[in-house]
Amino acid sequence: MITVTFQAFPKSFSGTLVVGCFEGPVLSASAKKLDGHLGGALARALKAQALKGKKGELCTILVPTPDINQVVLVGLGKEKECTPHVLEEAGRRFCAQVRTQEALVLLDPVPSVALPGVAFAEGALLRSWTFEKYRTVKPEEAPLKIQSLRVVAEDPTAAKKAFAVLESRAQGVFETQTVVSEPANVLYPESFATLVQKTLTPLGVRVEVLGKKQLEKLGMGAVLGVAQGSVHEPKVVVLEWKGSSEKAVTAAFVGKGLTFDSGGIDLKPQKGMEEMIHDMAGAGAVFGLFKALALRKASVHAVGVLALAENMPSGSAQRPGDIITTLSGKTVHVLNTDAEGRLVLADALWYTCDRFRPKILIDLATLTGAVAVALGTEFAGLFSNKDDLASQLTSCGEAVGEKLWRLPMTEHFDKDIDSQVADVKNLGTGGEGGSITAAQFLKRFIKEPVAWAHLDIAGTAWTRKSTPMKSLGATGFGVRLLDHFVRTHCE
Ligand code: BES
Ligand code: MN
Ligand code: ZN
Repeated sequence: MITVTFQAFPKSFSGTLVVGCFEGPVLSASAKKLDGHLGGALARALKAQALKGKKGELCTILVPTPDINQVVLVGLGKEKECTPHVLEEAGRRFCAQVRTQEALVLLDPVPSVALPGVAFAEGALLRSWTFEKYRTVKPEEAPLKIQSLRVVAEDPTAAKKAFAVLESRAQGVFETQTVVSEPANVLYPESFATLVQKTLTPLGVRVEVLGKKQLEKLGMGAVLGVAQGSVHEPKVVVLEWKGSSEKAVTAAFVGKGLTFDSGGIDLKPQKGMEEMIHDMAGAGAVFGLFKALALRKASVHAVGVLALAENMPSGSAQRPGDIITTLSGKTVHVLNTDAEGRLVLADALWYTCDRFRPKILIDLATLTGAVAVALGTEFAGLFSNKDDLASQLTSCGEAVGEKLWRLPMTEHFDKDIDSQVADVKNLGTGGEGGSITAAQFLKRFIKEPVAWAHLDIAGTAWTRKSTPMKSLGATGFGVRLLDHFVRTHCE
């Protein structure tokens, strides 16, 4: 954890200093002042290293003066194009690459960012998360990690206030990253539900856990079917945050929560199967989102539903060819037991619409490998029945750097999942456009006129290697996007 404090411009400098440089290179006002103080050392170092102040550049200059140890020049690109996101990325890079325990951040306001130090600190904080709880022997040559950031701001009180909101959100992201990283021997539906309850109840979120008996009573045949091969019983966790006096539920968030997806009887190939511990990243994001909303006391009436199950092959497992009855009453021909996410979501989406009648319904799911084939690892797939909602979500994604790309939904794809023996089948006929057929399947289980969006995060929820922008493993994708969405469109 990084401690971030805010202060006015100091009389003297010491330790590690962070200053900005725009494309050219053009030193920022603070950097220029410092350069004067250091006899032009900064400008010379930039020249020696042929740096241009472009986005993503980072230049550490050792300064042998009595007080200052090193100066970090961060490239911010063109001043006019410098957004909070550019500064956040600079903060991430700084955290990942600069060896220091402390730093003083001297970033000057730019036309579109009044508090650049706040965005920079958010980036550094976000990048500081790692998942190392199971490493009992720490690597010997562990690099120095940033522990404390002192951020200079014209109005430290305002900066502190702005940062508090981002820090709550970061706490939500960390919660998501950690829960998504937990292996499936530790995290299964019951332990997940208990963690959610223990974490969110003290923060004022109402948490209700539906166990197997209640799911049977309700008739959630799809959730039960997916889980029936596992020794772990499924759970559906219902969250309610009443941060406003609004009676009606403004927004509901549903998450796919497969604590492990082996594929079931349609067993997945060995390669990469261990990564299927993150098949609950949708539910993990909803969990983290509610932590963020509660911590920052968001003025919204929101509901969350986590559909938790484990998909395993066994003598009691669901078979290809089974026909199940979902909560909605619609029957599903299960053609592939590995297309299980859409099944648990069918019950969760219907339940959410039926019980809460939200105005807006957003689901997150690591639903299809096909979405990563189509969009890669930078964009999540976005599907929606409302253009307004789709464009609002797209802009929010751009603002926080969790990007979405909308994919089409049409009758043509809907026909593809008609079944000859049941109401619908869980697999398209041809196999092409797999992410779209999956979305069409979900659409059959929402109740119009709800404004619905489905985010397929199978390509974005997990990173295989550590980069300056992201730690290895769970990314927490969706938490900042949806927190920003709630803040700009629901409060
Ligand atoms: N959980 C997987 C999708 C997935 C793939 C998530 C890669 C994260 C990374 C999902 O349940 C699944 O198995 N989907 C199948 C669908 C197919 C059987 C129609 C897929 O993508 O192959
Ligand atoms: Mn699957
Ligand atoms: Zn899955």
